[in-house]
Amino acid sequence: MKLAVIQGDGIGREVIPAALSVLDAFGLEIEKVPLDIGYGKWERTGSALTDEDMDIIKECDCVLFGAITTPPDPNYKSVLMRLRKELDLYANIRPFSPLKKVKLPCNTKEFDFVVVRENTEGMYSGIEELHDDVAYTTRVITRKGSERIAKRACILASKRKKQITIVHKANVLKSDSFFRNVCTGVAKRNGISYSEMLVDAMAYDLILNPQKYDVIVTTNLFGDILSDEAAALVGGIGLCPSANIGDRYALFEPIHGSAPDIASKGIANPIAAILSVKMMLEWMGRTEEALSIGRAVDSVLQQSIITPDLGGSYSTKNVSDAITGLV
Ligand code: IPM
Ligand code: MG
Repeated sequence: MKLAVIQGDGIGREVIPAALSVLDAFGLEIEKVPLDIGYGKWERTGSALTDEDMDIIKECDCVLFGAITTPPDPNYKSVLMRLRKELDLYANIRPFSPLKKVKLPCNTKEFDFVVVRENTEGMYSGIEELHDDVAYTTRVITRKGSERIAKRACILASKRKKQITIVHKANVLKSDSFFRNVCTGVAKRNGISYSEMLVDAMAYDLILNPQKYDVIVTTNLFGDILSDEAAALVGGIGLCPSANIGDRYALFEPIHGSAPDIASKGIANPIAAILSVKMMLEWMGRTEEALSIGRAVDSVLQQSIITPDLGGSYSTKNVSDAITGLV
């Protein structure tokens, strides 16, 4: 197994080494290929990600990604978007359930849902035009893209409660009634029951009734927004991992950004990155190791070995050392 490691910028350079120390504790045969990609590289070379970097990444099986700061360049194209597109990582999977002892903003602790976000098209198609007085972004929803993301959601649902919620804005957008119709067809063919929600109503209900949801499937931008909302529900963006999955490659990343305001202080919460390694191990079929990370994270939270974002005073390294000692 070959793993491309992109720490990126800001706290990516702290949480990824922390997460790798947990991975290293298992002594698995994983060849790590470090790559210098991101804002730092852009400042030095004018390019955040080169074609050569892309070639090296394509020789690996998967990627562990920290976070990248957006350079102040109007022509800059997001590195993450390029990776998702070129590696065809069409499913962005983001699980949300409360962790031990973490203070939640809602009344219920009984929820466990996954956002399955289409990751290569929709509002992020990259087809844009900027003129003096008008700007256009083309929202592309294809049958192939909708079918494969709905299929992913159904496969996941078949291992859970056998139900999906399709989130869209079909009352206004033709592209979304198309998405909805493709998804309902896939659900029917796969014996998965489905319900539908308009995205605005979903944003409201997710806060009030998160326990009602299990597998949520939606288009790119809606999934982006709802998953940040969901991160607030579980008590903080520093806790939330994600997997970007395609048929050939996968990329695992915390859903937070590079957080320049707290970078280099050694206080970033490494749990999102560590849980991203857990998702990577699940993808590799290393179920035991993945479960062991889950237990260790629970135990460290139970002992309140936590970083300032959760009200503690432990460092990134304190937390990852504690987790490494338990896996
Ligand atoms: C995310 C991020 C990215 C996205 C940005 C950094 C391009 O917000 O992973 O959710 O919009 O997908
Ligand atoms: Mg986002």
